[in-house]
Amino acid sequence: MIEDFLSFLDVGQGQQSLRTLSRRILQKCRKITCAEAGTIFLVRRRGQTRALESMSVQNDRIRLPDRSFLVPYDTRSIAGYVAVTGEVVVIEDVYAVPLGRPYSFNRAVDMATGYRTRSILTFPLRNFQGRVIGVLQLINRLGEGGENLPFEPSHEQMIAPVNAVLGRALEQAEILDVVADANEKLRQRNKELREERARVVALQQETEEAFRTSVRLLARAAELHDKDTGQHIVRVNEYAHLLARKAGLSKVFCDEIRYTAQLHDVGKMSVDAAILHKQGRLTGNEITEMQRHTVYGWEILRASDRLSMAAEIALSHHEQWTGGGYPRGLAGEAIPVAARIVAIADVYDALRSNRPYKAAFSHARAVEIMTAGDDRIRPADHFDPRLLSIFARQHAEFDAIWTRFDDETAAAAAAAAQPIVPPLASTGP
Ligand SMILES: [Fe+2]
Repeated sequence: MIEDFLSFLDVGQGQQSLRTLSRRILQKCRKITCAEAGTIFLVRRRGQTRALESMSVQNDRIRLPDRSFLVPYDTRSIAGYVAVTGEVVVIEDVYAVPLGRPYSFNRAVDMATGYRTRSILTFPLRNFQGRVIGVLQLINRLGEGGENLPFEPSHEQMIAPVNAVLGRALEQAEILDVVADANEKLRQRNKELREERARVVALQQETEEAFRTSVRLLARAAELHDKDTGQHIVRVNEYAHLLARKAGLSKVFCDEIRYTAQLHDVGKMSVDAAILHKQGRLTGNEITEMQRHTVYGWEILRASDRLSMAAEIALSHHEQWTGGGYPRGLAGEAIPVAARIVAIADVYDALRSNRPYKAAFSHARAVEIMTAGDDRIRPADHFDPRLLSIFARQHAEFDAIWTRFDDETAAAAAAAAQPIVPPLASTGP
């Protein structure tokens, strides 16, 4: 008999829900005992109290509502008594419960349905530790001709050995239900996390965009104080990016220099405007103040970790390879590579531009000065020789950038577009 039950329970066990398993167990027990009806209850905790919850209710004669119900965990009902005491209860006619028993039969269902409950066999379901975890109640044993028969001691003996097996199977199914429930919660949580992650990524992109816009606006704001307006800062970004790529620097570095190079002269915002826009020769003190734009820029930018490359470019883009630059007179590789790159980009762009002290040079002349020098520029002293040789090889691409972001083209494009803010009056040369 036990083997029969075990093989029965093995079929599909693990994939069955608690209610499905309860239904199959009850059907099996009813078949063994020829019971017309029956119920399986499980002991459930509800806060501090316990109750019996129906997991399967079967009746071959009448149709019962397909929903579970609760029975108090106490000895007033037959099922409650079995759950509390762990005893087996066999009654021939529940309408004639012997006197002196704590429980009585609740006739409410019979009265509502017209069914007549007579014989009952109720026994506990136990878990591995022997604790009662549920109750199986068999109702109205029928004979072959459909006549009412009492349950016999042999039925109790027939089922008693397997009730532990049933109890364990039910407990396993209950654990599976709990695991399935936990898995479902986990799946839901994972879904929420994925959505949360997507929101964070979107927010990061938005923040990154806002950050880069702020950097661009800061560079533009600084430019308004300077004589070098127009597309200078955009071109310096592009030259620097080109040089960094050709020098084999990492993608992260190349991406970063492409939006931080434009901040190289941001410190000019702090230089006295009278000195910044003075026509004619500067005095020694005025030159010193002008040169301090490197330190001012560093002071503005060092506040942000994200702008550490911009800060070192601002501080060191006027340093020279052999140590003759300012503000610290660094030499060689002591000068941050980002600043060495921007030095070449900045000087090339200055040569191509109109300045108060000089007209714009052609690309060919600018390349000649960058590589062979003139009365102001000594390439071997000023520039990192490795970066300069990259410039010498890639100079055509510098010219292409100049043409693409040429000031006149930009001015024409700006004029074609409706300006939102009227152009500022020129404050100097
Ligand atoms: Fe500068």
